[in-house]
Amino acid sequence: MIPVVKTVEEARKYVKAWRREGMSVGLVPTMGFLHEGHKSLIVRAAAENDCVVVSDFVNPTQFGPNEDFETYPRDIEADAGLCEAAGAKLIFNPEPSEMYHDALTTVSVDKLTKVLCGKTRPIHFDGVCTVVSKLFNIVMPDKAYFGQKDAQQLCVVRKMVKDLNFDIEIVGCPIIREEDGLAKSSRNTYLSPEERKAALCLSRSLVMGREMIGNGEKSTRKVIEAIKAEIEREPLARIDYVEIVDLDNLEPAEDASGHILAAMAVYIGKTRLIDNFIIE
Ligand code: PAF
Repeated sequence: MIPVVKTVEEARKYVKAWRREGMSVGLVPTMGFLHEGHKSLIVRAAAENDCVVVSDFVNPTQFGPNEDFETYPRDIEADAGLCEAAGAKLIFNPEPSEMYHDALTTVSVDKLTKVLCGKTRPIHFDGVCTVVSKLFNIVMPDKAYFGQKDAQQLCVVRKMVKDLNFDIEIVGCPIIREEDGLAKSSRNTYLSPEERKAALCLSRSLVMGREMIGNGEKSTRKVIEAIKAEIEREPLARIDYVEIVDLDNLEPAEDASGHILAAMAVYIGKTRLIDNFIIE
């Protein structure tokens, strides 16, 4: 059975032993309750590295006061089975006290974290950047794997790695979807059957927006309006944001050409879901 370690010291012992044998190390940072999306990251990491560490840690510092830290789903046994099947060699599953005890340091990336999800989740990316930096320093991987579903997170982490000179390659991996189009997410488990159907308005509206651009629509304003109108037809949906931004700096893009990210956050009932597409 794959080892599940709880302390920084134990995690480092494994990684140091692999390093002594000249093996490469990949890291897949997760908050657990793993699904096919995470599995695709682990499988890719296992194909590209000798050893893969999956961190499984519901990070309290990236949740706002009224968010779902307490209720976020957890199942370390199921996670261990998935990690092993996907080819990981170690799970790092610390308690918050092991990660933070009396910590006074925060890692913060400016600008990119003030837009999109950062507007309604003002402390979120400081929590992400801090925990990801700590995981990088604990595991010291050659490569780290992140899903494109959190496109802003991927962009922020890339910038942090560049700015702080982490010697780590960040690998972005495609969104994995259910057969009907819903992007896989641990939070999908919060949805009632009725909400689960309603949640399809995210992927449906994005497909429509992408088609508009594919058919030659250049005005991002028109594409955003059409996407919003499609979501607003769904009574259980409430839009947090729908935006089309430049993929490099996350600033609003007026023209639907070049590298763009169309991103949204939408509440379905009480559950906040995100989804996006990228045109490179
Ligand atoms: O994407 C996530 O699950 C989390 O934000 C991460 C990167 C594991 C940091 O807690």
